[in-house]
Amino acid sequence: MTRLRVNGVDHEADVGTRTLLAVLRDDLGLVGAKEGCGIGMCGACTILVDGEPISSCLMLAVQASGRDIVTVEGLAPEGKLHFIQQAFIDHGAFQCAYCTPGFVLSTMALLNETPAPDREEIRDYLSGNLCRCGSYPNILRAVEALSQSERT
Ligand code: FES
Ligand code: FES
Repeated sequence: MTRLRVNGVDHEADVGTRTLLAVLRDDLGLVGAKEGCGIGMCGACTILVDGEPISSCLMLAVQASGRDIVTVEGLAPEGKLHFIQQAFIDHGAFQCAYCTPGFVLSTMALLNETPAPDREEIRDYLSGNLCRCGSYPNILRAVEALSQSERT
């Protein structure tokens, strides 16, 4: 059994050689991280591992043992949306929302590294997250608004 700490809660799972994405979704019922390409190209499966955005389709679950894993479910544990989630809603930054958990977590990592990124820094940092609905202009507006706002 492998111990995984996800959103501050310890779990034990028989992970074998499966990816972290598969274990999160199939064993832990955390389906916020999505499978898109499955080969590290789309960002739909992005989660944070020790604060870094990671494509969970590429990481074996066993590699995440003992590390601090955050999924989108961890951002609103009691139903109150995280300010990044709220900004995406306020700016209509999605259509189908399949890409949204990945974008939200990548944005969180960006703002942790660079609290007030400019437009180019946002575009560059989020370039690994793809949106098939083409919501990029509103995603950019949402993150720019966060960059310019005073957050606590
Ligand atoms: S599903 Fe992991 S990067 Fe596309
Ligand atoms: S909102 Fe549909 S893929 Fe981004």
